[in-house]
Amino acid sequence: MAIVCIEFEVKTVKLLEDRILAEGKALSDSVLKVDGFLNHQVDPDLMEAIGKDFCEHFKSFGITRVLTIESSGIAPAVYTAQALNVPMVILKKQTSKILNGQVFQTNITSFTKGTSYELTLSRDYISKDDKVLIIDDFLANGEAASGAARLVQMAGAEVSGIGILIEKSFQNGRTKLDDAGFHVYSQARVSRLGEGIIEFLKEA
Ligand code: G4P
Repeated sequence: MAIVCIEFEVKTVKLLEDRILAEGKALSDSVLKVDGFLNHQVDPDLMEAIGKDFCEHFKSFGITRVLTIESSGIAPAVYTAQALNVPMVILKKQTSKILNGQVFQTNITSFTKGTSYELTLSRDYISKDDKVLIIDDFLANGEAASGAARLVQMAGAEVSGIGILIEKSFQNGRTKLDDAGFHVYSQARVSRLGEGIIEFLKEA
């Protein structure tokens, strides 16, 4: 049966860009604060529109599971999964290795936060037949998204796509994921940050 994601055309890219311009704060030339609708307080209506937009983009990909990384990916991922009518699975950040054989794990180092953790996926919630859509809030250096993709591949499943809310296009994550051959769709692509400056890539 054909998947219907949105009844009316919603320009989510525009919605998200407008919201970033209205409420986002460039803390430096590399960090964008969006606590008011994404990272601390969450706007459910915006997340629902974002989920529908991801659904519209990926509806023909045969997605069977949406995966995200705790914590800020969860809200947009759950709406995406609902729109695609598939389960959503949360990748957990553990501080150390779990040695009981029930999980897949891979080490992630965050350059933005200067931390590292074991990204963890239970074997119960993935199978080798899965076609997975990975959703995350920010794409900076691509470490988290690459790690999520590694876990999917460790399970023998397929990474069918990667959906990002806010891509910082001036950092190397997008190039890294493109070069690895992943289909990446970012709803807002930030080309430049600075004091009082937030700019987006123009659509080609
Ligand atoms: P990478 O995965 O693309 O390499 O990114 P990186 O490790 O550098 O980012 C680590 C954390 O910092 C992630 O959140 C990511 O969402 C967040 N982050 C990166 N750049 C920005 C930014 O410009 N603004 C904001 N607000 N966050 C940014 P996390 O640790 O997974 O936190 P959370 O999901 O629990 O909120």
